[in-house]
Amino acid sequence: MKIPITRPHFDEADFAALRAPLETGWVVQGPHVAGFEAAFSAYSGAAHSVACASCTAGLHLALAELEIGPGDEVIVPAFTWVSTAYVALHLGATPVFCDVDLRTFNMDVAQIEGKITSKTKAIIPVHLFGLPAQMPAILEIAAAHGLAVVEDAACGLGAFIDGQHVGTFGDMGAFSFHPRKAITTGEGGMITTGDPRRAARLESLRNHGAGVSDLSRHDAKGAYLLGAFELLGFNYRMTDLQGALGETQMAKVPWIQARRAALAARYTEALADLGWLWLPEIPPGDTHGWQSYVTLYAPSAPSLARLDALNAGRDALMARLEAAGIATRQGTHAAHALGLFRQRLGVQPQDHPQAWMAERLSMALPLYPTMTEAEQGYVIDQLRALGP
Ligand SMILES: Cc1ncc(COP(=O)(O)O)c(C=O)c1O
Repeated sequence: MKIPITRPHFDEADFAALRAPLETGWVVQGPHVAGFEAAFSAYSGAAHSVACASCTAGLHLALAELEIGPGDEVIVPAFTWVSTAYVALHLGATPVFCDVDLRTFNMDVAQIEGKITSKTKAIIPVHLFGLPAQMPAILEIAAAHGLAVVEDAACGLGAFIDGQHVGTFGDMGAFSFHPRKAITTGEGGMITTGDPRRAARLESLRNHGAGVSDLSRHDAKGAYLLGAFELLGFNYRMTDLQGALGETQMAKVPWIQARRAALAARYTEALADLGWLWLPEIPPGDTHGWQSYVTLYAPSAPSLARLDALNAGRDALMARLEAAGIATRQGTHAAHALGLFRQRLGVQPQDHPQAWMAERLSMALPLYPTMTEAEQGYVIDQLRALGP
């Protein structure tokens, strides 16, 4: 049996959706992007949703909208995809890493205040793998220090805190539709915000800073003249092909999320007695979005002293699983430990020990909505047989 880490799900509705923009010839940002944005707002409860090229583009736009620039600092978790921190660097600002909690993989809120300086402008909490970051505590700290909050909700679709969707807590949220995520448009992103003025500026910033969208200009009289350009923008638009796919993918979200939750529950039940593998834990009130089911390899208590030996054990297990046809992945990076940040910021892996241990001991298991009972049963049996 060959089990991939994930498998995006497309059906006849998706195939048919892609025909429409091809037939009309309007393939750049247009009516289907608008339809996707409306569907995203309806599902998430966000007042405004602004589609863009990727979550990374969305985070970049959000920081640009906050006018973050040289001399500013932005607090980001140390265990995250690189681009959470890249976007600060791209604007000339400095990412300041904050360690995570090894049990949740999310930012350790007890450490945030120690990272705040007179230069800090924003916090980017990440809802890693679909588990909500501790937003009430983070918002309280941000309010006390006058900081903006941009939620990196790349993995956050279907994640809620007490019934409120992630991405709607901070000033802005950014989602990803890369194929590793719950729904996909190939590449793609969405920024959410409750502020109509921010939404209007984000719409302009994604479109070179133009005052009106191409579609509005083409539909209006005087289309032969270009409009005003007031903001320093980017071309971070989503195409209407992606928008059309986004509309049909959104229609499947209830089914996709129910399947993901059921598969996660089965893993948790079937693996609960394995003392050597830490399973995801969900704090009360949280709904996990299950972008990934990420475990921690821990035959003995994780510590920096034991890390090399434990890491060798995890990698050997992942190799045995691969030989058995089962794909696994390390959760994500300890971003601060990557060469770029070591060189630019002078940080060392051990400076954020929980993130460093998470990089070297985490293991994501296969999870996708069409995963069959037999496929998941095989993963569970092989894990039990081949571990630790
Ligand atoms: C936490 C996090 N942030 C940002 C991104 C970047 O998303 P995108 O590929 O849509 O730019 C990812 C993608 O894996 C992610 O996991």
